[in-house]
Amino acid sequence: MKQQENIHPIFDKMESREEKEQQLRQRGLTVWFTGLSGSGKSTIAVALERRLSQQGIFSRILDGDNIRTGINRGLGFSEEERRENIRRIAEVSKLFTETGIVTLSAFVSPTNELREMAREIIGKEDFVEIFVATPLEECERRDVKGLYAKARRGEIKDFTGITSPFEAPESPALAIDTTNLTVEEAVERVLEIIIPKIKHI
Ligand code: ADX
Repeated sequence: MKQQENIHPIFDKMESREEKEQQLRQRGLTVWFTGLSGSGKSTIAVALERRLSQQGIFSRILDGDNIRTGINRGLGFSEEERRENIRRIAEVSKLFTETGIVTLSAFVSPTNELREMAREIIGKEDFVEIFVATPLEECERRDVKGLYAKARRGEIKDFTGITSPFEAPESPALAIDTTNLTVEEAVERVLEIIIPKIKHI
């Protein structure tokens, strides 16, 4: 790419990741939640954020509905647009993570290919994949945003789980089916996995 010839990053002059992490007394990490719309990704992320704060851990939530009204406004749900959506989100997650922040990224990210891309951008050491495995029937029963009903009526095209595929992750760090689980129980399970990765500083 020609334009990049004239770009000179100043990373070597900036404060390092280690310095940021020392200041925050924590290690940066991306906790990547994947799952169907309405599976509970954002609900868990919000409760997790509070629990982390109580322990003095600094975090930031990135989620589909927020990002798609800001940095990714205008991106739709075709395969290509989802790829660009996830690529940008992964780059943003990486920036936060390298600032020492625990980044809670909650996106449908429906395919192994998309999640693999995110893992590669962020770096596998900094990426923990959590599958919110609530089945389609339960997500559709809850239908918090009324989107499944619309998708069934044909009013939303390419809707994940209905007219667009969702591939379950092959080897997530954790899979949580929220059908019979409280939010607190789900958060406990995530904490068990991530605290050792954040606190060893
Ligand atoms: S992703 O597939 O590109 O990762 P993302 O997580 O950003 O999706 O956005 C998903 C959210 O957008 C859903 O929770 C839902 O509220 C909304 N949405 C609107 N249209 C669709 C659609 N066609 N498929 C999935 N989600 C949709």
